[in-house]
Amino acid sequence: MSDHSYFQRRSQIESYFDRTAAEAWERLTSDAPVSGVRATVRAGRQAMRELMAGWLFDRLGRQEPNGQWRTHPLEAITVLDAGCGTGLLAVDLARQGAQVLATDLSPKLIAVAQRRCPHDLSPGSICFEAGDMLDPRLGRFDALMAMDSLIHYAPEQAMAAISAFAPRIRRSMIVTFVPRTPLLMAMMAVGRLFPRSDRSPAVVPMSESWLRQAIEQAPALQDWKIGRVQRISKGFYTSTALELIRS
Ligand SMILES: C[S@@+](CC[C@H](N)C(=O)[O-])C[C@H]1O[C@@H](n2cnc3c(N)ncnc32)[C@H](O)[C@@H]1O
Repeated sequence: MSDHSYFQRRSQIESYFDRTAAEAWERLTSDAPVSGVRATVRAGRQAMRELMAGWLFDRLGRQEPNGQWRTHPLEAITVLDAGCGTGLLAVDLARQGAQVLATDLSPKLIAVAQRRCPHDLSPGSICFEAGDMLDPRLGRFDALMAMDSLIHYAPEQAMAAISAFAPRIRRSMIVTFVPRTPLLMAMMAVGRLFPRSDRSPAVVPMSESWLRQAIEQAPALQDWKIGRVQRISKGFYTSTALELIRS
């Protein structure tokens, strides 16, 4: 992947989420009424957040010696929420005690996230920061969550991003990708008939077998193994979560 192609794509994504779609995205991620199509997307996204938070909880959550889950099972776990949008997942995790650094390219979405963030998440916390999720200055974390943020990049770019995260993450990475299914490819082909201005920056579907092979062969991921993989499909929302665990 050349830096040039990554920066070019990143700038298209930033301009889409910070300008073209900022208000639509703010609405989609609120409780305000939305169309039937968007309601299915909202429901699918909620199911995805629950799945990802549940996996993190299973993997890193803490139980008392008597087997009971703690009130805040992710207490003291540090998480990078990469491409956090308006912060829904970050809030879910902080409510379970995680210390979250939530970052997004769009300063507008970060401002919405800050405005919506509950004041007291103690013992959890969130620090929101506008910028590139790949910036190494963000530091090291126990876990990475990248929900639907790598889906806008070419497979090679998404893979390079996962490899770049790896040395900064101690235990678990959960990322999503859009699976390359015949139905989805047909829907995207129809979408291409609409005028360009109506379109979001296209998601780039990825085949699971390609991704598995790329992960197995990536030098930066030699001490990582693939854990659970699960697709969420609800109406117009389709995305697959994949878990990577440091072995
Ligand atoms: C489809 S939205 C998902 C937002 C959030 N994860 C959620 O699921 O609600 C994708 C987000 O990823 C962000 N994003 C994409 N590339 C990024 C990058 N390189 N650094 C930071 N954020 C990025 C976009 O700005 C956008 O807000």
